[in-house]
Order: sequence, then C-alpha cells, then structure tokens
Amino acid sequence: MSNVLNKQLTKKQAQLFDYLNKFEQKNNYSPALSNMADHFNVSIPTIHQHVDYLERKGYLIKEKGVKYSIKVLKRMSDIGSLPTQEKNISSIKHGELPINKIICGDAVKVMEKMPDNSIDLTVTSPPYDELRDYKGYSFDFENIAKQLFRVTKKGGIVVWVVGDKIKKGNKTLTSFKQALYFQQVGFNVHDVMIYRKKNTPFMRSNAYTNCFEFMFVLSKDSPKTFNPLKVKTVRQGKEMLPFNKGADGVNKKIMGELKPEKTMTNIWEYAVGYGGSTSDRLAFDHPAIFPEKLAEDHILSWTKEDDIIFDPMCGSGTTCKMATLNKRRYIGCDISQEYVELAKKRLKTVSNNFS
Ligand SMILES: C[S@@+](CC[C@H](N)C(=O)[O-])C[C@H]1O[C@@H](n2cnc3c(N)ncnc32)[C@H](O)[C@@H]1O
Repeated sequence: MSNVLNKQLTKKQAQLFDYLNKFEQKNNYSPALSNMADHFNVSIPTIHQHVDYLERKGYLIKEKGVKYSIKVLKRMSDIGSLPTQEKNISSIKHGELPINKIICGDAVKVMEKMPDNSIDLTVTSPPYDELRDYKGYSFDFENIAKQLFRVTKKGGIVVWVVGDKIKKGNKTLTSFKQALYFQQVGFNVHDVMIYRKKNTPFMRSNAYTNCFEFMFVLSKDSPKTFNPLKVKTVRQGKEMLPFNKGADGVNKKIMGELKPEKTMTNIWEYAVGYGGSTSDRLAFDHPAIFPEKLAEDHILSWTKEDDIIFDPMCGSGTTCKMATLNKRRYIGCDISQEYVELAKKRLKTVSNNFS
C-alpha cells in the first residue's frame, strides 16, 4: 500500500508531505515555510530542502516568491501511508558482529546484540534535527552512549560529529551536554575537533554565519592507534635554526633543514555539497550527510587495515563506504529502511575484498 512513498521518499519527506496534505485539506491553502519550520521545529532552509525535493519528484508545485504558494499534486491516500520501519535486527545473532552489513534497526537494540569490546572505531553523526525524531523515530541518546562505551574496544575511539540547533534564538548546546555525558559513562574526551565547512549559506540576519560542527573524539582509555595526518609546512628548505645553548649560555644557530611536513591541527576543513562532501549523487537522497573525506581522515587516523568501523546511525552509509575503500571492515545501522536501502546501494558501488 505504501509502495510509492517507500521507494521515493524518506520518512521525513513523507512526514512533511503528510503534514502538507492534512493542512491543505483543513485550511484550503498551504502552510508557509515558517509554519512548517515551527511545526517540525527545524530551520527554514531545512524545510526548503525537503519541499524542493518533493517538487522535483512531482509531489507538489510551488510558485516562486509567493507566501502560500505550495499546491500538493497527490494525496497521501492515493499513494500510500507513511513508510513503516522494517527491522532486520532479528538477522543478527546475540554476541555476533554483523560484519560488512547494514542493519535496519534502532541503534541501541542493534548494539545490545553486539559483544563487549569489539569495535575499533565509530564515526557517526546523530540526528540533531527534530524532524528526524518526529513520530516514531526515537533517539535514546543516553543508552546509545552507554552501549557505545560497552562495544568499543579498550583503546578504541568514537568520533561524534554534532552541531547545535537554535531554538528561539538560543543555541541548545546539546553537543556539550552529550560530550559531558560521554565522560560520565567512562569515555575520555580525547579531543574536541572542529569540522569547518568551507562553503556555507548565509543563515542568520543577527549573527555570524555558522560554519562548523564539533567532532568529539572519545577514547576508551588511551587510543591504541594514532597515525597522525600530515600537511606540508609553509616554508621548506634550509635555514639558520636555533641550537641548544652551550655551557657558555649563548644561543647558537646552525644551518638546518626545515621540516617538510607537520601534523595537522584539530580544525579540519571540507567543502560540502555535490563535489565537496562527495561526487556520489546517490548520497544526496539523504539530507544530512557528512563529507566522505571527514570519515576517511578519522578512519586513517585511528585504525589500521582490517579493523572494525561502526556507524550506528549510518544514514547514506558514508562511514561504511570509506571503511571499505580503506580496507577496513564495517558495520552500519540506521532506523530508517529507506536509508538502509540507500546505504546498501551506495556500498554496492565500491568493490572490495573484505565484504
Ligand atoms: C545525521 S544523519 C547521519 C548521516 C550520515 N552520517 C551520512 O553521511 O549519510 C542521522 C541518521 O540517524 C538515523 N537515526 C535516527 N534515530 C536513530 C536510531 N534510534 N537508531 C539508528 N539510527 C537512527 C536517521 O535515520 C539518520 O539517517
């Protein structure tokens, strides 16, 4: 019955479309973007993105520059009901790792089936946009944090990529609360890194444009692997360099070679959008992907070949794809069947000897 929606729309898009349908039926006009943003408690650009997608797929048309401009072209009842969550957690046996698989299910329930101390690295980004928590997709942060600590190997790492929403002009700081909770369950906050977006649209009229998210690097004990990524130094070649003082206490200088490279700083910059985050068009069926290079840089930094990389909220499968391309094993999980299908499709496009 929900065939069309299940194939074309993500759960969020279907929820928005359902809302538009009901609103229009009740009021005889469409809601403004700001009504929708308020209803789902998300930003207007997020709503824009979903409405544009619905228009491209032929679910509605909108007239540019007009406030109540949306006309829905289909009825929910014509094309199905909201997609339901199909779960395939039952395919995992207790105590076994679902290696090189994308599992559909709630992150906590999937982790509950996994053995203690079994994951080398998690690279993940939680839903911090409530459209994703709306109607049914519960997000049990505290149990996710506890389970992540249990399944992570001693010396393993969790990279938690997160930004803050603004509610009524006030930043939620959920990111900080989550970092503090991770400490409470036993992780060390090994580093607080910044994911800086090179290209970001102007968003607020009374504040500077936000261009970063946090990458909390959480370690269970001291990291067992660290392969520091390097960048070229600005100046290279030979130069007179300071030398240790001798017994006479005089500073000396000797001719020395400048270092050709140095360890990167903890602010990592990536272009976002098509050609930035990825050139893999498929990925953009998910509205909140992080850059492939971000996942890859963490994978290379904190793991070695054949290690196990996990993403409990894998969305379009970015972490799993980059694990595969870097000869690591992966486990992906997402609560949405649509995203699981998307991640599986994406994974099929990368060949490797490990899956
Ligand atoms: C920010 S997105 C992740 C995007 C991903 N990093 C990528 O590059 O495609 C968060 C994901 O969490 C999923 N999600 C939300 N609640 C979940 C839960 N309880 N268990 C598992 N996944 C969940 C959502 O469906 C969404 O795909």
